[in-house]
Amino acid sequence: MKFLPCITFFFLMLITCKSSDTISVHQNISDGDTIVSRKENFELGFFSPGNSKSRYLGIWFKNTSSQTVVWVANRETPVTDNLGAVKLDNQGNLTLVDGSGKVIWSSNCSASGANINLVAQLLDTGNLVIKNGNETLIWQSFDYPGDTYLPGIKLGKNFITGRETYPTSWRSTEDPSPGEYTLKFLMAKGKYPQAFIMRRSVIETRIGPYNGITYSSQAHHAPDANLEVVSDLIVNQNESYVTYISTSNIASFRWKLTPDGKVEFSYLKFPNPEWTPIFTTPVDYCDKYGVCGPYGSCTTFTSPNCGCFKGFELKNLDETSPDNDTSVCRRKIALDCGPREGFLKFSSIKLPDTENAVFSGNMSLQDCEVACKNNCSCTAYANPIITPGGVGCLLWFGDLIDVRVFPQNGQDLYVRLAASELSGLHSRFRRKKRAVMAVTLSTAAVLTLLGLILAFYTKRKWKKRSDAEREGNTNHMRSAEVPLFSLSKISRATNDFSIDNKLGEGGFGPVYKGVLEEGQEIAVKRLSKSSRQGLDEFKNEVICIAKLQHRNLVKLIGYCIQGDEKMKSLLDWPQRFQIIQGIARGVLYLHQDSRLKVVHRDLKAGNILLDHQMFPKIADFGLARMFKENESEANTKRVVGTLGYISPEYAVNGLFSLKSDIFSFGVLVLEIVSGKKNRGFVHEDHEDNLLGHAWRLFKKGKSLDLIDECLHVSYSACEVSRSIQVGLLCVQQRVEDRPNTPTVVGMLGGEGSLPSPKKPAFYIQESEINSASNLSLLPSSVNELTFSQIDGR
Ligand SMILES: *[C@@H]1O[C@H](CO)[C@@H](O)[C@H](O)[C@H]1NC(C)=O
Ligand SMILES: *[C@@H]1O[C@H](CO)[C@@H](O)[C@H](O)[C@H]1NC(C)=O
Ligand SMILES: *[C@@H]1O[C@H](CO)[C@@H](O)[C@H](O)[C@H]1NC(C)=O
Ligand SMILES: *[C@@H]1O[C@H](CO)[C@@H](O)[C@H](O)[C@H]1NC(C)=O
Ligand SMILES: *[C@@H]1O[C@H](CO)[C@@H](O)[C@H](O)[C@H]1NC(C)=O
Ligand SMILES: *[C@@H]1O[C@H](CO)[C@@H](O)[C@H](O)[C@H]1NC(C)=O
Ligand SMILES: *[C@@H]1O[C@H](CO)[C@@H](O)[C@H](O)[C@H]1NC(C)=O
Ligand SMILES: *[C@@H]1O[C@H](CO)[C@@H](O)[C@H](O)[C@H]1NC(C)=O
Ligand SMILES: *[C@@H]1O[C@H](CO)[C@@H](O)[C@H](O)[C@H]1NC(C)=O
Repeated sequence: MKFLPCITFFFLMLITCKSSDTISVHQNISDGDTIVSRKENFELGFFSPGNSKSRYLGIWFKNTSSQTVVWVANRETPVTDNLGAVKLDNQGNLTLVDGSGKVIWSSNCSASGANINLVAQLLDTGNLVIKNGNETLIWQSFDYPGDTYLPGIKLGKNFITGRETYPTSWRSTEDPSPGEYTLKFLMAKGKYPQAFIMRRSVIETRIGPYNGITYSSQAHHAPDANLEVVSDLIVNQNESYVTYISTSNIASFRWKLTPDGKVEFSYLKFPNPEWTPIFTTPVDYCDKYGVCGPYGSCTTFTSPNCGCFKGFELKNLDETSPDNDTSVCRRKIALDCGPREGFLKFSSIKLPDTENAVFSGNMSLQDCEVACKNNCSCTAYANPIITPGGVGCLLWFGDLIDVRVFPQNGQDLYVRLAASELSGLHSRFRRKKRAVMAVTLSTAAVLTLLGLILAFYTKRKWKKRSDAEREGNTNHMRSAEVPLFSLSKISRATNDFSIDNKLGEGGFGPVYKGVLEEGQEIAVKRLSKSSRQGLDEFKNEVICIAKLQHRNLVKLIGYCIQGDEKMKSLLDWPQRFQIIQGIARGVLYLHQDSRLKVVHRDLKAGNILLDHQMFPKIADFGLARMFKENESEANTKRVVGTLGYISPEYAVNGLFSLKSDIFSFGVLVLEIVSGKKNRGFVHEDHEDNLLGHAWRLFKKGKSLDLIDECLHVSYSACEVSRSIQVGLLCVQQRVEDRPNTPTVVGMLGGEGSLPSPKKPAFYIQESEINSASNLSLLPSSVNELTFSQIDGR
C-alpha cells in the first residue's frame, strides 16, 4: 500500500507522473501502487481488511493512523493473489483483473461520443470519478456507496435509471461483501421522507422523519462549532435524494453502517488526522422500531419504557406469551367524529411513522388542525418542519406507531381524542392554576393508605410557572388548597397500585405513578400501617408541600433516580452540575426565600427527583420542620434522617438547624460528583468514608481524582473542583464553619476563591461512630430501603 515511486514503472512514466490522482487510458495501477487525491486526504489502492488474506481495491483516508476504508470496488469478489491490476479502457470502462488476467470487477460503463481525454480521478471528496475531459461524468463511486457515507453522496432513487442508492453494511469487519443491514432513505412520491435501518427486509430503527434540516434522531449536539452540516433534500420527477455536506473547511464528517446494524457518526477536525465518534444509533431500547406498538410511546425515563398516549390504555396482553412486551394500546373512548372532538398536544416527541401520512408544504398549524378535524379518518397532525418560520402540515391516517419521547429537540404532535377525554383535560388546566397537589387521607377498612399526589407538569408549563413563582409566591400560597381524593380514584389512577406503576421505594413506602381520569399524571406515595412515617410526619409533609412553591421542590416529578449506578450512566457533568445548583437553589428557597423557614432534615439522593429535563426537585417533606422567623435551632428527642447524610450535632445531640441541611447537601454534592454513595463507600487504601476520601484527595491537591470515572474527560475541571470544595465546606465538623445557604449558592455560581475546608465530620465509617456513641438512629434496614434501586431503563 506504500506509494511506490514512478520510477519503478518506467514504461508508464510519461503518463503517470503528470498527476498522481488519476488513472489514464491504458495505464495500470497494480497491487502495491496507489493514487492519492490532490489534497492528499484520500488514497486509492489495494488492501486486505484485518487479518484477511483477500485483496480488495478500495479508497481510504490517507492520514488516519488506523485504516479507514470508505469504499470498496470488488466487495463480493476479492483478489486472491497479489497481482491485481486496474486499468481504464478506451471506452471509459475501469476494470480490475487478477494475476491471471481474469476480470474481477468492472465499473461497467462506457462513454458515448468522441472520447478525447478519458480519465479516472480520485477527488478530494473521496469520490472516484470517470469522466471525459472535464465535461461529461461517466461514472462515480459515490453512486455505489458501501458502508460509509461521505459528504456529497446522494442517497435516494433515480426514477429514470431505477437505481437506488443506499449504504449496505459489511458482512463482518474483515469481509466487505454486503451484510444484512441497509440504511434506506424513503422519499417515494407522495410519502414524507424518513429513513430506516433495515435488517434484510425488516425495519430495525426509524430515523426521522425529515424536519426541514435533517432526519431527526438522537443527535442533539454538534461536537464542534466548526462542524456545520447542511442537508439538501431533492424530490423531482427524475430523482429523489438527500445529501449532506460540510460547509467548514476545517472539519468534516462521515458515518458508517456497521456489520451489526448501527450507524456510527464521527467527525474529523484538521489538521488532527484522527476521527472522533459523535453518536451511534440505535442507542437504546426505544430506538427499536415500533417497540411500544400503535399508540404506545417509549421513554427511557421510566420503567417499563412503554406507555400509552393519554386517552389510551393497555389492552389485555396475551397471557400465553407474557414475554411479549409489545404493549398494545387502545383508545379508552372510541372516536365518533363528533364536532367536539379535538386534539391533545404531546411535546418532545419523535413523530410517528409517516408511511400513512400526507404532507402539505404550505399549510399553517391552524389550517392543519382544521384539515385534520374535517377528515374523520385523520388521527393526528403536526408541523414537521422546525426551521424558523417553517410551515407544513403532516396528517396521519391510521395508527400512530414508533413514537418515543426525546430528552430534548423533540417535536409537537397533536393527537385526536374524544370530546369527553378532552373535557377532563380542561378541568385539569383549571385545577393546575390553583392547587399544586392533592392528598388522600382515606382510612379504608383493610389498610390505612395515605397517598400523596404530586402533579406532573410538562416542560413548557413549568417555565411559565416558575417565572410567575419567582415574582408572586405569596398569592399562590394563600390560595393553595388541598383537594381530597378517594382511595378508589387513586387506585384506578395507579392501576390498583400495579407493580408496573411503581416508581420507587422511599424509607416510608413505595411511590407509584399514575394517571388520573382527567389525564393528569401523578405520583402517589403510599403508606402502609407498617410504615415508619407516622401520621404526624405525613400531615407535615402535606402541609409543607402545599405551602411551598419552587421549581426545585417536588410538585413536579419526572421520576426518581437514586444516587447510585443509574446516576452514573445517565448523567454527564453539565447535568450533574445543573442538579447540584438546582438542589442548592431549592434548599435556599426552603431556608430563606419561602415565607416559612423550613429545615428539610432528610436531604439525600433518594429524595431528589429528576424531571425529564434532569432538573432536580427536592421531595419528601415528611421530616421537615418549620421554624418561625427568628428561630434557627431546634432540639428533637427522636433522631430521624438517613445514615450517611445526617450531621454530627443532629446525630449526637438531636440538634438540628439549617446547617444540618447544609451538611446533608455537602454529602450529596460529593456523591453526585463521585457517583458513589457516602454510606458503604469502600476504598482499597484506607477505611475512610466518601467524605474522608474526598478530603484526602483535596489535601493532596488531587480533587479531580474523585470524579466519577464514567465522566471521562468531558467535564469542566474548574466546576468540578469548585463543587468538591463547596461540598467539603458543607460537611465540616463545626456548625459555624459551614457556609450558610446563600453563600453556598453564591460559591457554586461564582468564580472567586473559596475558603479552605477543615476536616469533615464523620471522617471514618459511621459503623464505628455508631457503636462508639450508641446513637438512636433508625435501624439500618429502613435506611437501606431508601436506597433501593429504581430501574429507570
Ligand atoms: C498493464 O498494462 C499493459 C498495457 O496495457 C499491459 O501490457 C500489461 O499486461 C498490464 N499489466 C497488467 C498486470 O495488467
Ligand atoms: C496528509 O498528510 C500529508 C503529508 O503528511 C499532508 O501534506 C496533507 O496536508 C495531509 N492531509 C490532510 C487532509 O490532513
Ligand atoms: C466493461 O468491462 C467488462 C470487463 O471487460 C465487460 O464485461 C463489460 O461488458 C464492460 N462494460 C461496458 C459497458 O463496456
Ligand atoms: C453491465 O451493465 C449491463 C447493462 O446495464 C448489464 O446488463 C450487465 O449485467 C452488467 N455487467 C456486469 C458485469 O455488471
Ligand atoms: C476544462 O478545463 C480547462 C482547464 O482547466 C478549461 O480551460 C476549460 O474551459 C474546461 N472546459 C469546460 C467545458 O469546462
Ligand atoms: C429531468 O430529466 C430530463 C431529461 O434528462 C430533463 O430535461 C429535466 O430538466 C429533468 N428535470 C429536472 C427537474 O431535473
Ligand atoms: C407479540 O405480539 C404481537 C401482537 O400481538 C404479535 O404480532 C407477535 O407475533 C408477538 N410476538 C411473540 C414473540 O409472541
Ligand atoms: C399553497 O400551495 C398550493 C398548491 O401547491 C398553491 O396553490 C397555493 O398558492 C399555496 N399557498 C401559499 C400561501 O403559498
Ligand atoms: C380523508 O383523507 C384521506 C387521505 O388523504 C382521503 O383518502 C379521504 O378521501 C379523506 N376523506 C374525506 C372525507 O375528505
